[in-house]
Amino acid sequence: MKRYFLYVALIALLPGPSTRAGVLYAAGAKQQAAVAQKAPAANPADFVGSEVCAACHADVAKKFSDNPHSKLALRNHGTGATCESCHGPGKAHVDGGGDVTKIVQLSKLSPKDLDATCLGCHAGAHPNFLRSPHAKAGVSCTSCHSVHNGDMEAKLLKAAQPQLCFQCHADVKPAFDMPFHHRVNEGLIKCSDCHDPHGTFGNNNIRSTADQNAICTKCHTETRGPFVFEHAAVKAEGCLGCHTPHGSQNARLLNVPNINQLCNQCHSPVSAGTVHGMNAGSADRPPCITCHTMIHGSNVNPAFIR
Ligand code: HEC
Ligand code: HEC
Ligand code: HEC
Ligand code: HEC
Ligand code: HEC
Ligand code: HEC
Ligand code: HEC
Ligand code: HEC
Ligand code: HEC
Ligand code: HEC
Repeated sequence: MKRYFLYVALIALLPGPSTRAGVLYAAGAKQQAAVAQKAPAANPADFVGSEVCAACHADVAKKFSDNPHSKLALRNHGTGATCESCHGPGKAHVDGGGDVTKIVQLSKLSPKDLDATCLGCHAGAHPNFLRSPHAKAGVSCTSCHSVHNGDMEAKLLKAAQPQLCFQCHADVKPAFDMPFHHRVNEGLIKCSDCHDPHGTFGNNNIRSTADQNAICTKCHTETRGPFVFEHAAVKAEGCLGCHTPHGSQNARLLNVPNINQLCNQCHSPVSAGTVHGMNAGSADRPPCITCHTMIHGSNVNPAFIR
């Protein structure tokens, strides 16, 4: 079982003329695993080509012309082993008049085997999938994508974001209805701007920027730095030390409603009375950021006053 997955992956990385034989082999080996367990290497003569499939599966074949996977045909130098690069060699299936035990029925595979089939070609773009919370929970490629019935315009997804995600993550939905929220429901940004559903090295499938910064700084570039005077909180705790990512009752997506209270979580007790010449006990003392305006870091002032 293991070996053919490896082989598919290897082949997928090889460009050029070797690809054709590779895809044939890969799919052939898949067939062996699914049908015969052990068999000699796939025989190119076991492949019939997409036109033959189309004769009996006209509806599927017709829709396939605008599927991104129709590009597989080009890759195979136009020999059209497109269908069989996923379903395995089809000769026995055809000779059997459509014997379903002789073709790989991807909808019947375990999530693990299904994922391995897809990753045979897509592992390069999604190297972390198998260690992602999704894969570990048995959420497979076809939980979110449908090769034949997905949205051709939108990465073959079964449903558009965020609905796709809310189907399973109803618990996070209320956050996006809060008074202050990232406008995901409104279509301004997507769940996948911050999360990679295919897994990352971080917790919670959180993406990072190309320069290994917090993903937040991809859009909020003014907070990225580096600054001459860094606010250690931003570097050490990260943005979530002060902000809630999805939505919040508090302006600026802050974790707590009161700014002074937020700052004093770490600077407690900053006595405005002694340090800043104000009445420390006064409830209506101005928020810290009235003066410490450059709260994410400053290039001119060590106290982030400007
Ligand atoms: C001679 C006609 C014929 C040809 C040619 C043919 N099939 Fe089939 N195929 C069938 C029949 C009949 C079924 C069973 C349909 C059913 O049970 O709904 C079937 C079933 C399948 C299934 C399983 C469908 C399911 O419901 O899970 C797959 C996958 C499949 N074919 C793929 C292919 C591929 C790929 C090719 C080309 C390599 C191909 N077929 C060529 C007749 C054919
Ligand atoms: C990229 C991989 C891939 C390719 C290429 C592919 N299929 Fe499929 N096929 C699947 C998967 C996965 C399913 C399971 C249902 C789904 O996810 O949409 C499936 C399901 C089917 C079914 C069962 C009916 C259904 O809709 O569930 C048939 C029949 C079928 N494919 C025929 C074909 C034919 C004919 C071609 C070539 C025109 C082809 N497939 C190309 C992956 C592929
Ligand atoms: C034999 C190799 C191969 C296999 C196996 C394969 N794919 Fe693909 N896939 C491709 C190619 C090639 C493309 C087109 C890439 C492009 O347009 O640059 C593609 C495109 C896609 C896209 C759309 C990308 C886009 O930008 O629109 C999705 C989603 C996808 N595949 C999912 C799957 C899933 C799910 C499976 C398993 C059921 C699978 N693939 C199996 C080769 C493969
Ligand atoms: C939990 C849902 C989910 C699962 C599971 C999933 N995907 Fe995706 N996939 C997505 C979403 C959402 C996008 C679109 C990302 C975007 O537009 O930013 C996507 C995009 C893609 C693309 C297009 C390239 C890209 O990265 O944008 C490919 C190819 C792809 N997925 C393949 C796969 C394969 C192969 C598997 C299984 C190994 C898989 N996906 C599992 C949700 C999922
Ligand atoms: C088919 C159901 C399903 C879909 C669709 C789905 N997820 Fe998940 N997701 C899960 C399961 C199951 C887990 C495993 C952890 C858990 O139980 O929350 C998970 C885990 C996660 C985690 C990690 C949570 C943690 O506690 O580690 C994130 C983040 C996540 N999903 C985001 C998304 C996003 C974004 C989308 C849409 C692109 C999406 N999911 C679509 C079922 C799904
Ligand atoms: C602005 C970036 C961003 C967007 C957009 C975003 N997330 Fe998150 N999400 C995060 C961060 C950061 C965490 C980690 C929170 C933590 O560690 O406390 C997280 C945590 C999660 C978790 C796991 C913890 C929990 O709260 O249950 C899930 C599930 C999740 N997000 C799903 C989604 C879904 C679904 C969407 C789209 C509807 C989405 N996220 C949009 C940044 C984002
Ligand atoms: C894909 C781009 C993108 C990413 C990634 C992103 N944001 Fe945002 N963020 C926005 C946009 C756009 C707005 C403005 C929303 C609006 O006007 O409704 C916003 C608004 C905010 C606000 C409120 C600003 C205000 O003026 O009220 C805060 C705070 C914030 N984001 C923090 C974060 C944090 C923390 C992260 C990482 C977990 C993050 N953002 C990731 C795009 C992004
Ligand atoms: C030490 C707490 C703290 C940390 C850590 C922090 N912020 Fe903030 N952030 C604030 C406060 C307080 C405000 C409100 C400023 C105001 O209202 O003038 C704010 C405001 C914002 C705003 C609104 C626009 C602006 O500049 O006023 C954005 C966007 C933002 N933060 C993004 C981020 C990002 C991205 C990170 C991580 C790189 C981050 N913040 C880390 C405290 C923090
Ligand atoms: C998550 C903890 C945390 C939060 C919340 C936080 N800070 Fe900090 N802040 C730090 C740390 C750690 C330092 C570095 C202290 C040092 O170097 O002695 C620092 C440094 C500073 C400095 C520079 C002080 C110096 O001695 O150089 C100022 C000014 C400051 N913070 C103001 C604020 C304000 C205003 C807020 C609220 C908007 C805030 N901080 C919220 C952890 C935090
Ligand atoms: C009226 C303006 C103002 C307000 C409001 C204010 N600060 Fe300051 N803060 C300053 C000035 C001015 C300095 C001294 C800067 C210097 O020495 O260069 C300072 C210095 C600091 C320092 C540096 C270390 C120290 O003790 O000197 C910290 C930490 C700090 N403030 C935190 C806070 C916190 C937390 C709040 C809110 C509870 C706050 N400040 C409210 C003006 C203010």
